[in-house]
Amino acid sequence: MLVSSVQTSDPTRHVSLCNGSAQMRAIGRIIENIADTDATVLIRGESGVGKDLVARAIHARSSRRHGPFVKINCAAIPSGLLESEFFGHEKGAFTGAHRRKPGQFEYADKGTIYLDEIGELPLALQAKLLHVLQDFRFARVGGCGWIDVDSRVIAATNRDLEEAMARGEFRADLYYRVNVVEIRVPPLRERREEIPVLASWFLDKFNAQYGRQKQLSPETMTRLQQHSWSGNVRELENVVRRLVVLTDVEREIEVLVARGRNGHGPVPQPASESLREIARRGAREAERRTLKDVLDRVHWNRAEASRILKVSSGAAASPAIGGPTPRGELRPDDGPAAPPEPAEQPPAYHEIRAVEHRLS
Ligand SMILES: Nc1ncnc2c1ncn2[C@@H]1O[C@H](COP(=O)(O)OP(=O)(O)OP(=O)(O)O)[C@@H](O)[C@H]1O
Ligand SMILES: [Mg+2]
Repeated sequence: MLVSSVQTSDPTRHVSLCNGSAQMRAIGRIIENIADTDATVLIRGESGVGKDLVARAIHARSSRRHGPFVKINCAAIPSGLLESEFFGHEKGAFTGAHRRKPGQFEYADKGTIYLDEIGELPLALQAKLLHVLQDFRFARVGGCGWIDVDSRVIAATNRDLEEAMARGEFRADLYYRVNVVEIRVPPLRERREEIPVLASWFLDKFNAQYGRQKQLSPETMTRLQQHSWSGNVRELENVVRRLVVLTDVEREIEVLVARGRNGHGPVPQPASESLREIARRGAREAERRTLKDVLDRVHWNRAEASRILKVSSGAAASPAIGGPTPRGELRPDDGPAAPPEPAEQPPAYHEIRAVEHRLS
């Protein structure tokens, strides 16, 4: 089975980890082996590779699955509030502490606590965390009694902790305490065989979410496989989401291909391009999109599209929606004739026909 779905304590939540590559299958085996051991786990990997998913899968497969899974993002909480967030505080412990508040460690009792971005933890709190991980007991801020906690600890980071240790920014004793089992989740570019499986997986997910029945054509799938993805799985996820939600699939693929060429965004136009050319290109693009939208709306009824777009009746069998006008462009009924552009390709005609052909 390519996608393993595991139910957590909340019956409506499933942890689905797509394991369509050798690397993810190996991670799946590690999860199976360690889930029930209570060993502390350090999950490493670049941003968006699936670290959260792996942490949730460990919890969901462990005997603690009916207990809470508590996630703390160490980078998202101001350092002054972290201690109270971790361990809670007593009423009056500091200005603004109007009542007693339990910390996340207390909430994680009998469950799993997931310390995301542990590499961002300030040194002072690293020392306190180390003590908690040694004894599994702590005191609330401003409190004097000890609270025992029974919790499994999973940490994650996209930082080079060894380098942070060398620079004195991460405590070595905490590093060894946390790094009992290490799981490195590879970036998407190192698990390319997983792309079709992930794409189909996201397709099913978004079809269900948005009530669509979109399919990915073999050409689209090939494009997705050939694209030079970064490491972040969210990039692929978002492309599939857009393919499901938007009607202009071809346009999305074009944008994707253009991104692939320079790694960032659409291919920049040469600096020599004149303003006039830029304006014409923009107008052609707007025309093409409008035509496509209207044709979609009227189920490719060209006569109806001509009426809505107020193009001459001849244009119904013409360029934009069916056959060539003298310039091959969509012509407004009462607009002034545009000056001839001999070097220009008939814009809308070919594109609309091509779209029409592909969609038919
Ligand atoms: N193997 C996979 N199967 C299904 N979905 C995946 C998989 N890997 C990643 N994803 C999806 O990619 C997105 C990013 O995953 P996740 O949040 O677990 O990554 P992360 O490494 O924790 O990211 P960050 O570094 O930003 O915290 C999520 O929407 C997740 O569902
Ligand atoms: Mg994460």
